[in-house]
Amino acid sequence: MPGSAPAASNPEAVLPVIPTALVEVDVVERWGEGIPAAVPVADIDGEPDLETAAENLGVDTATLRALDVSGKAGEVRAVPLSEGRLGWAVGIGDGEPFRWRTAGGELARAIRARIGDSGGEGADPRDLGEALDVEYVQFRLPSGVTPELVSALTLGVALGEYHFRVSARPTPPRVRKVLLVAQPGEDVTRLRETARRAREWASATSVARDLANAPSNVKSPAWLAETAAAMSGSVTGLNATVRDEKWLAGQGFGGVLAVGGGSSRPPRLLELTWQGSGNGDSGTRHVVLVGKGITFDTGGISLKPAEGMEMMRTDMAGGGAVIGAMLAIARLELPVRVTALVPMAENHVSGSAYRPGDVVRHYDGTTTEVANTDAEGRMVMADALGYAVRNHEPDLIVDVATLTGAMKVALGLRTGGVFSSDEKLGERVRDAGRRAGENWWPMPLSEDHATDVRGTTADVKQAAQGPGALMAALFLREFTGELPWAHLDIAGPARADKPYDEVVAGATGFAARTLVEFVAGLQE
Ligand code: BES
Ligand code: MN
Ligand code: ZN
Repeated sequence: MPGSAPAASNPEAVLPVIPTALVEVDVVERWGEGIPAAVPVADIDGEPDLETAAENLGVDTATLRALDVSGKAGEVRAVPLSEGRLGWAVGIGDGEPFRWRTAGGELARAIRARIGDSGGEGADPRDLGEALDVEYVQFRLPSGVTPELVSALTLGVALGEYHFRVSARPTPPRVRKVLLVAQPGEDVTRLRETARRAREWASATSVARDLANAPSNVKSPAWLAETAAAMSGSVTGLNATVRDEKWLAGQGFGGVLAVGGGSSRPPRLLELTWQGSGNGDSGTRHVVLVGKGITFDTGGISLKPAEGMEMMRTDMAGGGAVIGAMLAIARLELPVRVTALVPMAENHVSGSAYRPGDVVRHYDGTTTEVANTDAEGRMVMADALGYAVRNHEPDLIVDVATLTGAMKVALGLRTGGVFSSDEKLGERVRDAGRRAGENWWPMPLSEDHATDVRGTTADVKQAAQGPGALMAALFLREFTGELPWAHLDIAGPARADKPYDEVVAGATGFAARTLVEFVAGLQE
């Protein structure tokens, strides 16, 4: 079988369960007796509202005071309730929607720790008390709750205790579902619809995390493409096509073949199509999403340092975000036509690896002089962008990639960079991110540097001198046929080294739900 691993590694032995099951969230009308209960505690100007919280939990205010409940956003205190039931007081600070995402994430982790997850390698299981098998936890919503708030809380609860696990040992018990209990008189139908959409956002994020966390001995280009295709197969109306290296060679995907040439596991191109719900009239816009799918980035001949290289298994996080988003776009039956392209390759070192100084011909015929084999992302993206322009004639293109270390330096680990050839388009992406709870910041396609990507022997230079993230973006622009295009560099926020809000350490799934909400926002 082409693409199968050499005998030395045994993928089946470590195949993780994908997709990881998420905590379910639903909105209900009735507070149940005898179910573990969590309640919010507001903290306005250093004054925690202990009275309301105590009443909701059925305990004395003094009990909460004794537990030092402050209402600070994200503070979670376990509160013993009557008859040995479990309770939690969850700080929401000033109650701004994003605080509810923080609160939800911390609550989910607190519940998981209490119910019996070992808390990771090296944790002493004796510290955790008896493992409890709890199916439901109910959470008291305040009166006048807004959809934004339910959305943020749902994201936090669903994603906050995500744990990618590859183990033969039995999975410790976890809570299955969190019930958000609305106050009498609230519009439960509307809140339920909001929670459903937020769950789809969470599931897109979670799939993106799973794919990026998967170890690269398992995650060859072929595995990634086939896994995505298999997941798409269970969603009505979502179609997957996987192209192999022979097809890519026949079609002239020189960038993908150059990068993938150093690996014994050949490259792939994944294409997902969603026709868009509705009558399919000519007014329907066609969006192409392109995601970087480097299944492991050694740097190639321009080899990366050993330190931290293991995280380069997440170098397909952009592709993972696009795949996760497509599953949600189709499940939500959004009335927009969307095509996803994920060029997949392993950037490896070997006798057949591409070299600095090589000249590569891309799908659209443009030639590139290679300076550094570690700038492989733009090589594969260039082919896919050219293919999108030539074969799909989209109205607009959005690409997502862990493209440059420089982006991490510029914006840090919690914010993605948005470059766009079209002011309005960039704004739409950032607004979608705001609604979906992801931070983006606009980056410039500085014309001052535009001429620097011109080549001498070839048409363009792959890694010209200059500000790294901008030079990469300006290179990609050469392949976008002057269509409205946005480029999302997620090298920073695609991974996290510690948990915060709805994020856990490892792959974050960043950008997946922004893409879903961006596409949803295109339906006027
Ligand atoms: N995948 C990396 C970018 C990256 C670095 C992502 C760190 C996440 C964390 C990309 O392929 C790369 O190596 N870029 C080079 C480009 C340079 C050689 C022009 C970089 O940023 O150093
Ligand atoms: Mn690289
Ligand atoms: Zn890379």
